[in-house]
This record gives sequence, C-alpha cells and structure tokens, in this order.
Amino acid sequence: MAVATDQVTLTVDGVSVTVPKGTLILDAAKKVGIDIPIFCSHSKMEPVAVCRMCLIEVEKMPKLQPACAVYVAEGMVVRTRTEKVEEHQKGVLEFLLINHPLDCPICDKGGECPLQDQTFQYGPGASRYDFQKAHFDKAVPLSDRIVLDRERCILCWRCTRFTEEISGERELALIKRGVHTIIGTFNDEPAQSPYQGNWTEICPVGALTSRQYRFISRPWDLDRAPRICPGCAISWRRSPTRRRSAKLRPGCSGRGPAPPAGLHRGRPTKSSTCSSVSSARSCSRPTSTIASRGSTRAIRRTWACRSPISNAVITWLSWVGRR
Ligand code: SF4
Ligand code: FES
Repeated sequence: MAVATDQVTLTVDGVSVTVPKGTLILDAAKKVGIDIPIFCSHSKMEPVAVCRMCLIEVEKMPKLQPACAVYVAEGMVVRTRTEKVEEHQKGVLEFLLINHPLDCPICDKGGECPLQDQTFQYGPGASRYDFQKAHFDKAVPLSDRIVLDRERCILCWRCTRFTEEISGERELALIKRGVHTIIGTFNDEPAQSPYQGNWTEICPVGALTSRQYRFISRPWDLDRAPRICPGCAISWRRSPTRRRSAKLRPGCSGRGPAPPAGLHRGRPTKSSTCSSVSSARSCSRPTSTIASRGSTRAIRRTWACRSPISNAVITWLSWVGRR
C-alpha cells in the first residue's frame, strides 16, 4: 500500500526535485537553482499572474503556464528553456518595452532594475517598433514622499497588492481600463501610509520613486549596511543605503528625513550656492546653471560637486532630465 506523503516529486529541466505539496513551480525551480524571470510575483503576496513573464511548459498541458501561480503535482515535467518559452519571453519583453520610456540613464532604478536585467538576459536584441511611444504623466506626486512616473509603470500590480494585502490601507488602486489603466490614489488624495517607503522598493521598475532619493545617486555608488530600524516598536530589519556617509535611502517605511526644502519643486534659478545635498562634506561651490525643474537642479548640484565631470555630461543630463 502506498504511503501518503506531503512531499511531491517533479522534474524541472530534467532535474528531479522533491518539495512539499502546495509549492509553486517557481519555488520548486528556485530550489534546484533554475531561474524563471518574474515581475509581478512576490513571495509574501498572493499570485495574480498578470505580467506573464514566467510562463513555462508543463508536459500534458496544451498552453504555457505561469510558474508563479501553478502548484506542483506528483510526476510533473516542467521545461523552462524551450524554444517556445524563449520566444514567449522575448514577446513579453518586447510588449513591455513598446511604450516604456528610455529613461535608464537617469532613472533611479537604473542598475538594479529587473526590467533592464531581464531584457538583457531574455529579451530581444532590438526593438521592431518604429512608432511614437504612448506618453503618460510623469512626476505625479502621490504624497509628500512618493512620486509616480506613469510612463515607467508596467502594471504589475505589486504596489496595489502591497497596500491591500500587507499594509491593509488600500491607498493605491488601478484606475481606468485597458490601455488607459494607470496607478493612482483614491480621488487623487495624498497618500498617508506610514509604509509608503516600501512602495519604491517593491516596484520592479523606477515608476514609484522616493522624493528623498530621486535623481540623487546611482546604485553602484551606494553602500548597504543592514540595520534594525529604531523608528517604531516593530524594529524592522532594513538596509539603508549611504554614499560618502550621507544617508540616501532609509530602506524601510519612509520615515526617513524629509527631502531638502525645495529640492523637487524648485523654480528656475541662475547661479546659486551648492548645498551639496548628497554629500556629507559641506560644499560651497557655486553652481552656474539654469535648471528648468527641481530634479534637474538636483542633478546639477550633485554633479557640480564632483569636479572631474565635464560640463558636457552635465548639459546632457539636464537635457535628458527635461524630456
Ligand atoms: S507602479 Fe510599479 S509596482 Fe505599481 S503597478 Fe506600476 S510597475 Fe508595478
Ligand atoms: S511573475 Fe508570473 S505572471 Fe508575473
């Protein structure tokens, strides 16, 4: 007589793996070191399978299946690197990039962005899309701490699910339908959540950005040091990031210091004195630029403090920032 067990054995790309019943294919593959690309999936939230990036082949199933939403079964045979799967992954990335702006050189997420990494690893080498990209609102303030760039959003629902399933405040929602779908707050009211600092972390692209960190640094310039947050009784584990001793990202609930006054709302100025917002050392070098937006001014202040950077680079950054 067969013994009932809570374990299930399946093969993923020819490798046999035994996992508990109720495990997702994605996690079973991860257990044997097989990477399946994802955008919408998150280990602490219910699967919704909206991005379709993780589709794989399962023997005896006629269509590709989302690895983030299908549970393992005894004797299942999963293939993650077939021609059909690879063609599908290229197609999904091509669709996502059709209207995604080419903000990578100035995007806060540049260098730690799954969309960049997965396009490099699984995507098509070039775009076949010759038409004008669709444009959405950029720099939409959601609160005094968070700014949303709707052009960069890939509608993965991670942020809305976080506010629903984790923090429970339901402050973010999907608004409108079809190609007009956007992320926003209810009635455009400013978000109040004490957990909104997590939104920028959970967003897989640079759509949700922190006012404190926007355009301030690049990830490869930062040091990370795990800490226990002293901000409340929960004592979260967090990974604040610093550059030259200046704290740039709080790494938890967004209770970090408020952005420097006027940093992101500045009017055009001619020369002013650099306040070196990103640097621990005090700096009084004059900045000699006219900036059309607060964000551009932030770049120029930051870079002006770094004398080796040429004016040509600074001018180019400003031009990209204005687009
Ligand atoms: S804002 Fe970010 S997390 Fe929210 S749906 Fe868009 S891409 Fe996903
Ligand atoms: S990660 Fe599976 S559908 Fe998005």
